[in-house]
Amino acid sequence: MSVTSRERVGVTAIPVGFVDGTTIAGELPWLREMYYGPFRAVAQLACAEPVFAARDAHIGLNMHIQRGSAERYECHVDSSPLSALLYVTDHPAGSGGELVVSNRGDVRGREEVDADATRVHPVAGQLVVFDARHRTHYVAPLTDPDGVRIVVVMPYYTPSCPESARPTDLDHHLGLA
Ligand SMILES: [Fe+2]
Repeated sequence: MSVTSRERVGVTAIPVGFVDGTTIAGELPWLREMYYGPFRAVAQLACAEPVFAARDAHIGLNMHIQRGSAERYECHVDSSPLSALLYVTDHPAGSGGELVVSNRGDVRGREEVDADATRVHPVAGQLVVFDARHRTHYVAPLTDPDGVRIVVVMPYYTPSCPESARPTDLDHHLGLA
């Protein structure tokens, strides 16, 4: 568990597959350029403060791969003031894989999130930018046991919430350390 985790005590979300930013930057250099360039400019539109990408692409550029109907990304809050999600796969309503965001704020456990939530159904190629530091969110399981959900996750930082304030246990929790 990280300090950003919001699962209930005793509940263990099954970790999803993960590709770190060093690997992505090596294999997909265009995606690294997008993170530091055009995507940062889009994130800037959502914020009055200057917006910065992570200094190290290893931290800033990560891919989550969720397979089948048993995996889901855990209930958590974000530590970065802005998160950008680039969806790679489509998951229309009814097929699972949606991002479930609490309308009640920072709550604990899937049931509390589900009680009053906004659901974002991934559309391949769509970039979503949001501030979820105070809204618990998780990714629902896929309904297809053979399904695959892929998303690129990119944090952005500001002077009032800089990269240096990133929780020290988060890299280990995400498998980046
Ligand atoms: Fe998140």
